[in-house]
Amino acid sequence: MPAREAIGFRRLHLSDLPLLHRWLNESHVMEWWGRDGVTFEAVVDKYGPRIAGDHSTRCYLILYEQRPIGYIQTYRIADYPDYAVCVQVGEGAAGVDLFIGDARYVHKGLGAPILTGFLRNVVFAQSTIDVCAMAPDPANRAAIRAYEKAGFRYLKTVQCPGEPRPEYVMSVDRGRLREWALRAGVGGGERRLGDEL
Ligand SMILES: CC(C)(COP(=O)(O)OP(=O)(O)OC[C@H]1O[C@@H](n2cnc3c(N)ncnc32)[C@H](O)[C@@H]1OP(=O)(O)O)[C@@H](O)C(=O)NCCC(=O)NCCS
Repeated sequence: MPAREAIGFRRLHLSDLPLLHRWLNESHVMEWWGRDGVTFEAVVDKYGPRIAGDHSTRCYLILYEQRPIGYIQTYRIADYPDYAVCVQVGEGAAGVDLFIGDARYVHKGLGAPILTGFLRNVVFAQSTIDVCAMAPDPANRAAIRAYEKAGFRYLKTVQCPGEPRPEYVMSVDRGRLREWALRAGVGGGERRLGDEL
C-alpha cells in the first residue's frame, strides 16, 4: 500500500494545464468527472482564471513522492449561492472535489489520506471554515467509500437545479476529523506544506 507520508499538495500552475487536460480525458476520470471529456482550450478557459486568483475556487495538484498524481480543489460553498441553497450545509462550509488522474494510483487506498491531509493543511487552515462537504454521484461507490474512510458521514441526497445527476452529500467537521484521524491512523503523516499554499 502506498505510504501517506509521500502525499503532498501544491498550487496548480498554468504549466500544469496540459497534464490536467490529459487527466480529464482519462476514462477512469471521465466516468465520474465531466463525462464527455474536454478540449485543451476549455481547460485553459476554466482553470486559467482560477490560477490567476480571480475565482473563489482554489486549485491544487496532489503529489506523490513529489510527482503530480491528481487534482483537488476547494471553495467556500456560500460563494456559490444557488448551490448553497440546494445543499444547505451552513455558512462556514467548504466544498472539496478531487480525482486521482494517474491511473496507477487509483484504488490503492490513497483517497482517504489525500483528503485528510488536504483538510488539515488547506481547508481547515482557514479559521472561517468549520465543516467540509463533498457530493459524489450516488453511484460512485469507490468515492463514497474513500470519503467514509476519511471520516465523512452521509447527510442527504439532493438534486440541484440544472445538474444532470443527484448528489450524495457527505460532511465532516473539524472536531470529527481530528478524532477520526487519530483513531484511524490517517492524516498525520503527509508532508508539511510550503508557504505557497
Ligand atoms: C474517488 C477516488 C478519489 C477514491 O480514491 P482511491 O484511492 O481510489 O480509493 P480507495 O483505494 O480507498 O478505494 C475506495 C473503495 O473503492 C472500492 N474499490 C477498490 N478497488 C476498486 C476497483 N478496482 N474498482 C472500483 N472500486 C474499487 C473499494 O470499495 C474501496 O474501499 P475499501 O478499500 O474499503 O475496499 C479515486 O478512485 C478517483 O479519483 N476516482 C476517479 C474520479 C472520481 O471518481 N472522483 C471523485 C468524484 S466525486
